[in-house]
Amino acid sequence: MIIDGIKIAQHYKEELRKQVDLLSVQHKRKPRLDVIIVGENPASMAYVKSKIKAADYCGIDGELIRLPSSVSQKELLRVVQSCNADAEVDGILVQLPLPSHIDEQSVITAIAHEKDVDGFHPYNVANLWLNCASIVPCTPLGIMALLESTGIALAGRHAVVVGRSNIVGKPMAKLLLDQHCTVTLAHSRTANLAEVCRQADILIVAVGRAHTITASMVKPGATVIDVGINRTAQGTLVGDVDFKSVLPVAGAITPVPGGVGPMTIAMLMRNTIECYKNRLK
Ligand code: GUN
Repeated sequence: MIIDGIKIAQHYKEELRKQVDLLSVQHKRKPRLDVIIVGENPASMAYVKSKIKAADYCGIDGELIRLPSSVSQKELLRVVQSCNADAEVDGILVQLPLPSHIDEQSVITAIAHEKDVDGFHPYNVANLWLNCASIVPCTPLGIMALLESTGIALAGRHAVVVGRSNIVGKPMAKLLLDQHCTVTLAHSRTANLAEVCRQADILIVAVGRAHTITASMVKPGATVIDVGINRTAQGTLVGDVDFKSVLPVAGAITPVPGGVGPMTIAMLMRNTIECYKNRLK
């Protein structure tokens, strides 16, 4: 089975749009998401444009704030703080990665935690690990929604997550643990990666390197979720999984593009609405 992320994300966005319609009438104000992008990285530009487009679709006011790659950390922090102070702004997203002269964690921590739609602020990270989260990082949340809507059983099964980033790997492991998976968090230094991956009933790959996972690394019937988006020399997009060779081995697999990506964006809309609702309280 090929898991259709576009279709599942579309279903979510339709539900969210209905919620936003009701909330906007009730509270006489649309939710607003401010997206800050630094520099001109083409992949980042493409992502933020998709985010603004999805916001428009859901009835969320999406504002794009573009800053030059030469912007100082001080100036970027000033922009974040002005979004924090603006009562009309419900969600703030600073697109990562940032240029190397800027300390990412300082910027993430400067975002008001109640407007942190990415769930990257230390307050939201702590709440996730303490089981009282309201805002959970969008990609792992989207993957859980994909698994749920395709009816894949999780309790007691072995999930292997490859990649230990703050954005995907670490929160992913926690969400799978919450659904009673036995979780292995593997990474670039894992010994015998192929052997570890072959034990997975659910294999989630977020390493950012094309063709990291080949057919011989996948247990027959396993669910394979590919978070990678890599551009080949020919300009086509491919995941971290060698889709063509893994497809006949896997029980279910996400394509790239059209798998995890659209779900990440749908969950960003969910988180923006969640921040809006939390701020009403
Ligand atoms: N860069 C890649 N993924 C993400 C994400 O989920 N949020 C932000 N802010 N930047 C990213």
